[in-house]
Amino acid sequence: MKEFKSKLNSEKYTISGIVSAKCPSNIALIKYWGKRDVQIPMNPSLSFTLNESNTQTELKFKPNDSGEFKLKVFLDNELKPDFAPKIITFFNRIEEFMPFLNRFEFEINTHNTFPHSSGIASSASGMGALALCLTEMENQLGGNLSETERLKKASFLARLGSGSACRSVYQSITVWGETSAVESSSDLYAVPYPYEIHENFRNFQDTILLIEEGEKEVSSTVGHKLMEGHPYAERRFESAAENLKKLIPVLKEGNLEEFGIIVEHEALSLHAMMMTSNPYYILMKPNTLYVIEEIWRFRKETGLPLYFTLDAGANAHLLFPEKNKVEIGDFIDKSLKSYAKQGKMIKDFSI
Ligand code: PMV
Repeated sequence: MKEFKSKLNSEKYTISGIVSAKCPSNIALIKYWGKRDVQIPMNPSLSFTLNESNTQTELKFKPNDSGEFKLKVFLDNELKPDFAPKIITFFNRIEEFMPFLNRFEFEINTHNTFPHSSGIASSASGMGALALCLTEMENQLGGNLSETERLKKASFLARLGSGSACRSVYQSITVWGETSAVESSSDLYAVPYPYEIHENFRNFQDTILLIEEGEKEVSSTVGHKLMEGHPYAERRFESAAENLKKLIPVLKEGNLEEFGIIVEHEALSLHAMMMTSNPYYILMKPNTLYVIEEIWRFRKETGLPLYFTLDAGANAHLLFPEKNKVEIGDFIDKSLKSYAKQGKMIKDFSI
């Protein structure tokens, strides 16, 4: 972790400045669920970084003599005092790698392209954008990080804010968590997927059906914690690692059918963990199940490659190749859209 310590120290600074960054959300195909220590994942995960769903953040900084963290957070120009504690916790975690943080006073302005209440987690894109801003700031102060070092450090810092956020720093497919299947993979930061990706998976479509809006009943933080002492945890961690290994030739060869099997198995395994923890809970809603049934029926009838994945919530991510955009898009509009709250969906893709 020494490589992430800043060359800068906690000396007094006199400069002020503004930095900004944009960071997308991501959807995991191989799910991270369960952690140890400070945000160390129990299994490797792999995700598609999205394009349309992102957070744009502007960070203003000016000297602060108080010796304490000082910040104000605005969402769409509205002051959000309740957002500050999470960022203070984050600053406490990363201070050892950014010793200049308490020498400044911050104003953080943030905007999400997706609605705040949509049920899309803003923590991945939000923490990713903030980490990118902070590494940019480090360079403005003389940190001298090359672009490669800066992105690696941003991913490392983002992980300390929200685990899955570390995967959002890079485009396309990324991997977080040490696995012998992916060279240079690490538990400390994500890496861009280093192997061949078949054309079938380029501009891969992810249409998110917003089945449930607002806060989830059980947060991811609680969910990760419930994997401790979970009766099936060990087998689940192994299974995720095996699924990741299996996905590598699939991504190379463009095998859509096998892709669907692995990805849907991952989604249902994640929810199976929730349903078998102590206490147990269910985040899927009846409409999530209707959508899954409709997808399976559609696939059987048409043979077209439409698959789903789920995050830790009720929303369904509808995954399909760009080349099938028209016919699958029609089916979504006709048969799936009505399962979403007020027919709301977000059409996204991963390059
Ligand atoms: O990064 P967290 O703590 O919000 O956890 C995210 C967990 C899942 O979204 C369910 C899976 C993943 O790998 O993104």
